[in-house]
Amino acid sequence: MRHLELSAEDFHQLAHNIADFTANYLEALPQLRSYPRGVTGSDTERLFGTAAPLEGKGVEAFELLPTIFEWSRPSSPRFFGYVFGSGDPVAALGEFAASVLHQNVSAWRSAPAATAVERTVVRRLGEAFGCKGYSGSLTSGGSVANLMGLCMARDVISSDDRPAQQLGTIYCSTEAHMSIQKASKVLGLGRQGLRIVSVDETFRMRVDSLRDSILKDLKDGRIPMAVVASAGTTATGSIDPLEGISSVCREFGIWMHVDGAYGAFASLAMPHLFQGLVHSDSLSIDPHKWLYQPAGCGCLLYRDPSIAKRAFSYSDSYAQPLSQDPLEGFAFFEESIELSHPFRALGLWLSLHYHGIQAFRESIREDLRLAHLLKDAVLNEPKLQLLALSH
Ligand SMILES: Cc1ncc(COP(=O)(O)O)c(C=O)c1O
Repeated sequence: MRHLELSAEDFHQLAHNIADFTANYLEALPQLRSYPRGVTGSDTERLFGTAAPLEGKGVEAFELLPTIFEWSRPSSPRFFGYVFGSGDPVAALGEFAASVLHQNVSAWRSAPAATAVERTVVRRLGEAFGCKGYSGSLTSGGSVANLMGLCMARDVISSDDRPAQQLGTIYCSTEAHMSIQKASKVLGLGRQGLRIVSVDETFRMRVDSLRDSILKDLKDGRIPMAVVASAGTTATGSIDPLEGISSVCREFGIWMHVDGAYGAFASLAMPHLFQGLVHSDSLSIDPHKWLYQPAGCGCLLYRDPSIAKRAFSYSDSYAQPLSQDPLEGFAFFEESIELSHPFRALGLWLSLHYHGIQAFRESIREDLRLAHLLKDAVLNEPKLQLLALSH
């Protein structure tokens, strides 16, 4: 007896129900409150904190779905919190299809089409940012992409058997995202391995302070490992002086990682603000931010895949690329922290093809126009103060 089997008929019915339910939800979305009213922790605990039943409930398992939607923060046009995209419904359908297909996109050998789709989508995104020839992979988000980029930087200056105190120093500005501090910790560098560089009055990293810090560390016998330039800081939207930072990186032979998690997408509309991006050794971008994708879609791009291989390639008898062919022998697990790798690219790929690049470019332009409208409104309101104006 097959305990987990679902008949084609039942799947049809359930999928139909979900399609109807989510389509209705999307229709109502613009009118929804930006936060559920009156829900408490004990409410959520009471309803969702119970154990799964021993005997299956069948279709009744879905009965709390409307409450889950109701007690959630909707991605409606009224919500401005966080740095988060709206979640394109086309990509959501792609995620549904990807889950049904259920690929392990660890290598071409285990998922030929999915691997080709992801490699293409990542490469094309790089090209859209002017980073032609970059490759990489999709991640769960920007924090993991930043960690992986910095892990590659560490491999350039160190080997696994080097004493910890020689593992290098990361430079970032006071405005850098907290994931850089986390990455420093995970890489074993801790707070001591992080230099926080001051910013100017527009919250951009001061290149002279960066240079001074590097010179001091070199004098103290430390190894400069990576500079993290922010292409769009979380709190102020400032873009670090990418050209100036890249010159310093070149001068001292330091890895340049750009955290463009959300801001780099503005280069699709205003490329002149991001001219130094092409000098980055690694670049993290989050399609789930300013490319309007559902949550769980980040991306790390890099110039030199051999360094990703050096950092992440650990094969074993159960996981080996069995071909030397550059396409058929390709393995994401040799260039990434992940082994099991979901088909994240399907939603993104469908979304890009469905709407076309120009639609994304125009949407970003429109968002920037709205940001300027907001700036004008703040300037015209005596009770409000404009704290940051990046561009
Ligand atoms: C500049 C920047 N970098 C990194 C991150 C982390 O991204 P994620 O939340 O996808 O891990 C964020 C999140 O807001 C961010 O704004």
